[in-house]
Amino acid sequence: MELIHSKDIYYVIRDVLKLLDPKIMNHGERTAYILYKMLSLESNLEMYQIAELALIATLHDIGAYKTDYQKDRLAYESKDCIPHSIYGYLFLLYLTPFKDRAKIVLYHHTDYNRLPRMDYEYLDIIHYLNVAEKMDIYSSIMGSKFDHMMFNKQAGSKYSPKALELLYQAEKRYGIFAKLSSGEYEKELSELYDYLIFTDDEKRDCLMGLISCVSFRSEYTMADMVTCTHICESIGEKLLLSDKQQEMLNYAAMLHDAGMCAIPRDIIEAPRSLTEEEMDFLRTHIDVINRILKGKLDQDCLDIIMTHHERGDGSGYPRELTQGKMNLLEQILQVADTVTGLTNPRSYREPKSKEEVIDILTTDAEMCKYSKEVVKIFVKFYDKIMDGVKLKSEEKLSTYRRMVENYEVTYRQIVK
Ligand SMILES: [Fe+2]
Ligand SMILES: [Fe+2]
Ligand SMILES: [Fe+2]
Repeated sequence: MELIHSKDIYYVIRDVLKLLDPKIMNHGERTAYILYKMLSLESNLEMYQIAELALIATLHDIGAYKTDYQKDRLAYESKDCIPHSIYGYLFLLYLTPFKDRAKIVLYHHTDYNRLPRMDYEYLDIIHYLNVAEKMDIYSSIMGSKFDHMMFNKQAGSKYSPKALELLYQAEKRYGIFAKLSSGEYEKELSELYDYLIFTDDEKRDCLMGLISCVSFRSEYTMADMVTCTHICESIGEKLLLSDKQQEMLNYAAMLHDAGMCAIPRDIIEAPRSLTEEEMDFLRTHIDVINRILKGKLDQDCLDIIMTHHERGDGSGYPRELTQGKMNLLEQILQVADTVTGLTNPRSYREPKSKEEVIDILTTDAEMCKYSKEVVKIFVKFYDKIMDGVKLKSEEKLSTYRRMVENYEVTYRQIVK
């Protein structure tokens, strides 16, 4: 039994990113639907290929999560389109399994007659996406005044004549814009995504990509995820967990704090203690991730996530569970998450030293907050585990740095 279906990987990515800004994903999905219907008229594509291209179309503005996008969508879509196009491209190139389709995103704002000559498998898709996303923007803004034929005047200059023709045919056959207005498109898109098939590695890469994207907002997120997953894996190895258990723990460690995207940055990064009201709000990140993952992620795996703030003495949340009610995997994530919080930098305090971390953990384990067995193993292998964390974090950081460096190079290529 797989822990999560390929289709649900897509929905988890969409729903977590919607927490940060629903507009980008809503526009992405409508654009994906338009592209899907255009591609349905192209007989050379299999359904799974169309589904993957629709997924890329949903993510086409993902770079806007990195650029300082305005609340007004048109700011990044019309005033300066290059930064978010480049970041979206680099994001797909470095951090997802969709490297070969990254250029579709890089050029999604490039006019038809300005696109550099290139031998690229997805050249037509670039033109189609360019048309599809403009259609969504203009139809949303103009409402009843919108006429999809109005772009005819720019055929051959701004837009590809072939792409426009495909759009006209698709509108005639499927009534795209009526379905976008009625919301019917969502069901059709969901049926299309039944065709998505990812390998286990691709699923993991997709979720890692998601966390990287979320890290665009808060620099701590990526370091925390790398630290927490590595600690879980290391403790799991020492406790001889099965492959299946390790996989569950890995998914739980990756996703356990994704609900934090619903919490404003000024609360997460407040350089002071939080008020009781703010703490209550912060605690809702558990309910948020539960809403997103319920029915998608394997329930045992979700249970690990749901208990990461529980403590064996009943002082945790949200259900104040006691030790007998929690299994080993849940207790490993509790320790790993605590160590992550203590050892990684925070805006309100310095990272704790090895001695301080061990002291806190052993005292709390004595008071039954944490599993004594898990804490014992962690303390015994502290140096080895934390050296591994350092190495993994460096690896991730260097990918991130390469990505940022590549921004300048790509920018110069695009605007030359
Ligand atoms: Fe865009
Ligand atoms: Fe767009
Ligand atoms: Fe948490």
